[in-house]
Amino acid sequence: MKTKTDKLTVLISEGEIRNRCRELAEQIDREYSGDSLTVVIVLKGALMFGSDLIRLLSTPVKFDTISVSSYIGAVSSGTPEFHSQLRLDLTEQHVLIVDDILETGATLNAIVNQFRKSQPLSIRTCVLLRKEISRNINFAADYVGFDIGDDFVVGYGLDYNDDYRNLPCISTLDSTV
Ligand code: IMP
Ligand code: MG
Repeated sequence: MKTKTDKLTVLISEGEIRNRCRELAEQIDREYSGDSLTVVIVLKGALMFGSDLIRLLSTPVKFDTISVSSYIGAVSSGTPEFHSQLRLDLTEQHVLIVDDILETGATLNAIVNQFRKSQPLSIRTCVLLRKEISRNINFAADYVGFDIGDDFVVGYGLDYNDDYRNLPCISTLDSTV
């Protein structure tokens, strides 16, 4: 629950997010030039980022969503849980998975392994944020919006117990409770 003791500090502004989305879209358009793309947005965290990003792409796009979670409050359970299935067939498609943040890599690693079974032509990943932590899982994202420190962040899709997803910017959250 949102409490008066939650302290939010803006880390990345709305304008900075918009500019970086534009740059990422240009890079993706360049690298997929001539191909079409199946974008999978990881819900709920990447809802805002994914929908902003696909609207900036010139590459022909089909998109789907998948619901995966691993966090309870500010603590990762370490085991990603799938709450939904794709409706698009990824077979022989160029697939771009869009997520909000790369921390341990467990979530994206589990999704990539799941999607490989459909034998896509290629799978790449795009995250808005990458946390500066040592990862046990050897996972690298192909497109990264911003590198950040190890603070817990909320906003622009990211949550703390489902609060703060609708903030237009990324803020750090200091919860004293
Ligand atoms: P990973 O599986 O450890 O890479 O964590 C990725 C998932 O954990 C993201 O998709 C988020 O849902 C969640 N997560 C990790 N760090 C944060 C954070 O600072 N704020 C909110 N959610 C986070
Ligand atoms: Mg998430």
